[in-house]
Amino acid sequence: MTAQLIDGKALASTVRGTVKDAVAQLKAEHGIIPGLAVVLVGSDPASEVYVRSKGKQTIEAGMNSFEFRLSADTSEKELMGLIERLNTDPEVHGILVQLPLPAHLDSKLVINAIDPHKDVDGFHTTNVGMVGTGQDAIVPCTPRGCMMMLAQIYPDLRGKTALVIGHSNIVGKPMGRLLLNADCTVIVTHKSSTNIPELARMSDIIVVAAGVPGLVKADWIKPGATVIDVGINRVPAPENGVKDDGTVKTKLVGDVDFDAAKEVAGAITPVPGGVGPMTIACLLVNTLSACCHLNSLPEPVLLGA
Ligand code: GUN
Repeated sequence: MTAQLIDGKALASTVRGTVKDAVAQLKAEHGIIPGLAVVLVGSDPASEVYVRSKGKQTIEAGMNSFEFRLSADTSEKELMGLIERLNTDPEVHGILVQLPLPAHLDSKLVINAIDPHKDVDGFHTTNVGMVGTGQDAIVPCTPRGCMMMLAQIYPDLRGKTALVIGHSNIVGKPMGRLLLNADCTVIVTHKSSTNIPELARMSDIIVVAAGVPGLVKADWIKPGATVIDVGINRVPAPENGVKDDGTVKTKLVGDVDFDAAKEVAGAITPVPGGVGPMTIACLLVNTLSACCHLNSLPEPVLLGA
């Protein structure tokens, strides 16, 4: 059997289109333009790529994008001052501080300085606590995207056994909470877990966010299960030849041994083109929702979001 491919690129494009229409309507009916502020401290190359992409897609959706690029030696006081200004700026409805921050900055303190209503990452302790207790709150973007992809396969998740591999604050923990809120039976594993293959074989759903290329093998997967691969790993690809500078070309792979896994799974996300595009699409959804909430307007109904 070859698994159904869950096309994140196509789904993200649909979500972005729906957001764009809703933004245009908000502007026409209320004269309000959602605004997203992204703060980057330092010049981590991967973060630079994400921040550029976030800014571009925010503008394409018809929203205002405000970018703040601060030097790597920015003090906590300066960063907190900027967040305070953004918290009270009526044109800013979403604030995202790109992680990781340089080591001298306390990311918990910084994230918790953001107004929870503008915390479009859903990382503020208030939003984490609300999601954890099944209340309406801002949901972290990557897990939200994964839930939307799962909704393509399952109209109802109740009673499914779901394994989450990886317990980061950004993906694994919120993913586990969302699956639990959907009445799945949830298992969350991490580096100290000893029996992951065995737990995987019991699971109807596997969500892996471990950062280990090809970690999930075909023989870990229950036939027909749904596999959501959050991993994005750059690995050498000698089969693609060499670059101009003589070094071996690279490629992106996920945390799943995709070619073998797709012969066992019922549905699977590819890398690239799976979860990745959904993350920024969900950031736009969260920014639009935050803008509506801050202006006491009802949230538009967004496809699958
Ligand atoms: N770094 C890696 N992923 C994320 C994310 O989703 N949000 C923020 N703020 N930083 C990140």
